Amino acid sequence: MNHMDSVIAIDGPAGSGKSTVAREIAKILGIHYLDSGAFYRTLTLAVFKYYKASGSEQVFADWVAEKQNILPLDQWLIRLDFGHGDENKLFLNSEDVTNQIRTPEITEKIKYIADKQIFRDFVNERIRVLARDNKLVMDGRDIGTEVFPNSRNKFFLTASPEVRAKRRMDELISKKIPADWEEVYSEMVKRDDSDRNRKIAPLLAAKDAILIDTDSLSIKLVIETILSRILESKS
Ligand code: C5P
Repeated sequence: MNHMDSVIAIDGPAGSGKSTVAREIAKILGIHYLDSGAFYRTLTLAVFKYYKASGSEQVFADWVAEKQNILPLDQWLIRLDFGHGDENKLFLNSEDVTNQIRTPEITEKIKYIADKQIFRDFVNERIRVLARDNKLVMDGRDIGTEVFPNSRNKFFLTASPEVRAKRRMDELISKKIPADWEEVYSEMVKRDDSDRNRKIAPLLAAKDAILIDTDSLSIKLVIETILSRILESKS
């Protein structure tokens, strides 16, 4: 399949609204939504389960850095099920880990995985296989820059840290997960910082991406803007 038209890339920082927007666009266009972050989350869970030991975050980080080339990547069967227009379902060696990958314990460890080429190659390979046979709307950090640089439909959503943290709070509350503003806000700023500043595939808008500041735009308007740009690019 030609990725110029078959992949719609929606990148941006956490809380920029990209997953909600991507899911809705997939529904409207009748194609699948792929959450690339869920792959990084599942791989982080796999590595963490394998690690088994306890210790500070730094101990884990050092262990990953040292073992990255000898971890049994090919034994970890990660399967993404597109679901039905809502969240993707993720399976690790046939165990449904869809909820486990969202815990703060995993979220804070992703950066030690996401900043290493070997893990990024592992995820990208799987994403590209799924894109061979499916038209997809994908959200992530590097879809437009690294994974599908040839896509004709690239969007980069932004929003201020305050608005993004508020969205994350609302999301947690709606899922009945206890949420503390200070924690949510500082976790978001820390994650932005590591995503933006990592040496490999940092969070970055592709040169030809359309930038959309979602601070004062409703989700509906963001979706309309993206859909009209997709239509324009076809004509
Ligand atoms: O999208 P989500 O917030 O679930 O992503 C979790 C983490 O996975 C991000 O903070 C980022 O470190 C990593 N990620 C990435 N590249 C992507 C998607 C996610 O590095 N394309």
